[in-house]
Amino acid sequence: MTSRSFAEYAGFCPLSAGGSGGAFILGVFMKKTTVICFTNNKGGSGKSTTCANVGYALALEGKKVLIVDADMQLNLTLSFFDEDSVFDMASGPYNLFRVMQGRASLEDCIRETGFDNLSLIPSSTLMSGIEFELFPKLQREFILKKALAGVKESGRFDYILIDAPPTLGTWVVNILVASDKVIIPVEASPWGLFGLANMFEFIGEIRGIAPGLEVLGITVTKVSERKNYFKQTMQTLSESGNYIFENYVRVDVNIEKAQDECKPVIAYSPRSRSAQEFIALAKEIDKKCQ
Ligand SMILES: Nc1ncnc2c1ncn2[C@@H]1O[C@H](COP(=O)(O)OP(=O)(O)O)[C@@H](O)[C@H]1O
Ligand SMILES: [Mg+2]
Repeated sequence: MTSRSFAEYAGFCPLSAGGSGGAFILGVFMKKTTVICFTNNKGGSGKSTTCANVGYALALEGKKVLIVDADMQLNLTLSFFDEDSVFDMASGPYNLFRVMQGRASLEDCIRETGFDNLSLIPSSTLMSGIEFELFPKLQREFILKKALAGVKESGRFDYILIDAPPTLGTWVVNILVASDKVIIPVEASPWGLFGLANMFEFIGEIRGIAPGLEVLGITVTKVSERKNYFKQTMQTLSESGNYIFENYVRVDVNIEKAQDECKPVIAYSPRSRSAQEFIALAKEIDKKCQ
C-alpha cells in the first residue's frame, strides 16, 4: 500500500453536513426518526455486519430501531433469522422488493427480530431485478423515500438503518435519497480505500436531489492492528478530520461464528472484543446524531 493522501483516495472536496432548518421546529412536537444507510460500493467491507450490530447495540441502549435489508444477498436478514425463515420471507409477499413494486406497504413488512426494540424489513432474492423494476417508474429515485415516509413520520422508531448492496445504481440512489445520513464502512486492507473516490463523487451527485444528505462518517472494519496497512489506512483516513469514527472493529472469529448461528455478535458473545467495539461504535454514532 502506498501513502496517498485522503483527498487522493476520496477525490473530492469534503462534503459538509446538510442543512435541516425545518427539522428543529418539527422536533419540538414529535420524536425524530433518523435514517442512516451503510454503504460502500466495495463488497466485503463490513456493511451488513456493522448494520446488524450497530442496530442491535442501539436497541440495547433502549432506542427503537428498524433495520432494513436492501441487498439481494439477504445477509442482514440472515443475521437474525435461520435460512428456512429467510427463504420464506424472501419469497413471500412481505419483503422490501414487494414494497418497491407497490404490492405491500412497509408497515406490513415489519418483522420482530425476537430482540427488544429491534425490528427488521427482510429483503428478497428478487432484488436482483430491482433496477429493471425501477426503470420505467416516474420519479424513480424517490420511491423508497416515499415508502418509508409513513413509518418515519409516525415517530415509532428512533433509528431506521439501511444495509445497502455493493453497487452504485438507481437502487442505491433510492437508498441514499431516503437517508438522512450515510456511514461508509471501510475495510482496513490494502485495497480498502480504493473506490472511496467513486463513493464520495456519487454521494456528491445525490446531494443535488437530496441536499440534506450528510456523511456521518467512515468506520474502519476488520482491523489487524499489527499489520502495516492498518496504520497506513488510519493515517490516511485521519486526514479526513471529522469523517472518521474513533471506534473501529478488529478482526474477530466470533463474528463468523455468530453469523453461523444467525445472530449479531453482541447477542452471540456479549463479552467478545468485537461486541464491545460495536457497542462503543454505536454510542459514538448515537452521539454524533444528537
Ligand atoms: N470484524 C470482523 N472480523 C472478522 N470477520 C469479519 C469482520 N467484519 C466482517 N467480517 C466478515 O467479512 C465478510 C464481509 O462482511 P460483510 O458485513 O458481509 O460485508 P459487506 O456487507 O460490506 O459485503 C463476512 O464474511 C463477515 O463475516
Ligand atoms: Mg452486505
